[in-house]
Amino acid sequence: MPNALPIQAVLQHLDDTSETRVTELQEFLRIPSVSAVSSHHNDCRTAAQWVHDQLTACGFATETVETDGLPVIYAEWLKAEGAPTALVYGHYDVQPPDPLDEWTTPPFEPTIRDGCLYARGATDDKGQLFTHIKSVAAWLKATGELPINVKFVIEGEEEVGSNNLETFLETQKDRLACDIAVISDTAQYGDGIPAITYGLRGILAVEVTLHGPKQDLHSGVFGGAVTNPVNALAKMLGTLIDDNGRIQVPGFYDDVIPLTNEEREAFAALPFNEQKFCQSLGIDAVAGEAGYTTLERRWARPTCDINGLYGGYQGEGPKTIVPAKATAKITCRLVPGQDPHKLTQALEQFLRDQCPPGIRLKFTDFHGAPAVLCDTSSPYMAAARLALETGFGQAPVMIREGGSIPVVGSFKQILGVDTLLLGWGRNTDNLHGPNEHFHLEDFHHGTLASAQLWAALGS
Ligand code: BES
Ligand code: ZN
Repeated sequence: MPNALPIQAVLQHLDDTSETRVTELQEFLRIPSVSAVSSHHNDCRTAAQWVHDQLTACGFATETVETDGLPVIYAEWLKAEGAPTALVYGHYDVQPPDPLDEWTTPPFEPTIRDGCLYARGATDDKGQLFTHIKSVAAWLKATGELPINVKFVIEGEEEVGSNNLETFLETQKDRLACDIAVISDTAQYGDGIPAITYGLRGILAVEVTLHGPKQDLHSGVFGGAVTNPVNALAKMLGTLIDDNGRIQVPGFYDDVIPLTNEEREAFAALPFNEQKFCQSLGIDAVAGEAGYTTLERRWARPTCDINGLYGGYQGEGPKTIVPAKATAKITCRLVPGQDPHKLTQALEQFLRDQCPPGIRLKFTDFHGAPAVLCDTSSPYMAAARLALETGFGQAPVMIREGGSIPVVGSFKQILGVDTLLLGWGRNTDNLHGPNEHFHLEDFHHGTLASAQLWAALGS
């Protein structure tokens, strides 16, 4: 019997093809598209081509756009005359898979265990972005059309700060015109609790290297008479945060827009079990800025984290040296109101002011992006709620997240549009860590929600 409603035909098609979808995703996950490591840039290009081929096979007009870095895949289907246009963003690059020896199965050999697909990029973001490719494919296969116009922008440098994307957006501005952007690169609130994310933290990412003597020195012969760069760096970094968890860089909090009471109440109303949270992370206590709850600290307060710290002898056994240099990689998460460029300068000044004699400080600004807050009262948001409720079988909660997706701010600034952050993953999916995975259940629910979203946005 023919399906009465187009959406039923789409859902039927998705049901009939669910196994193939997983196999195809595994193919995508086998490509080690690590953007941070230049020897993997050819793999990144392979991943870009893979996305290109997928979108072309769906029936989209697809183009690979070169940038000063890795290519962006642009695709469009614009035959829904008079209907709104959604712009889907995703990223085909992934984080480095390190530490390799902690993976149960190799990061680029996707493996299904206990209902989850394990691989680097499974949830962040290949698996999530693929749900949108497959939902438009299903609409076009099952009904020959989409309820709205859809454009795709899939980039390959998100995990390294999207430094070339603004130029792409500026130069392609007209072609990218849309009513709403859609991104699935966040998470549900908890197991079985779908969420719409209306706020993300921003970020600034830097590296500081202290150069001391021209080479490693005997610490008995020279120690005590020259500044040890590792000692100096440790001392400087120790001044970044005080005992109340407050960042000590002058002016750091000046522009912070504080949380409203309403938002604090809404956060407090979400189910959150601190003991379980600690257990899941293998820690015995939470910590952070005094006066704020764990959710507030994670979603809406600024941070300063040392991501990597190295210098001196790292091998087995002792070695008596004054090292020649020491390096720290630092990121600060930013909240609405804070300007990444201004604070990068303030951080540099703060460190330079403490630089001791005998040390040369080299400061590198990697990237920055502001925090974002999205309009929760738009009709697009209402359509998204409906789509998630239908796809996941449960109404979503509204949350903020602590991670960053630089393009969201650029979409607002350059294209003038808001973004629907519809995350199908879970924060327990080990994104950026070993054994990253995506629950197949979430993959399927996400694809269903995506298919519903096009219909909901169309009406
Ligand atoms: N998918 C994440 C962002 C994310 C994860 C948001 C979980 C909310 C919840 C994204 O791919 C990511 O990791 N972004 C980087 C951006 C940075 C390199 C500019 C991040 O947040 O570290
Ligand atoms: Zn991501």
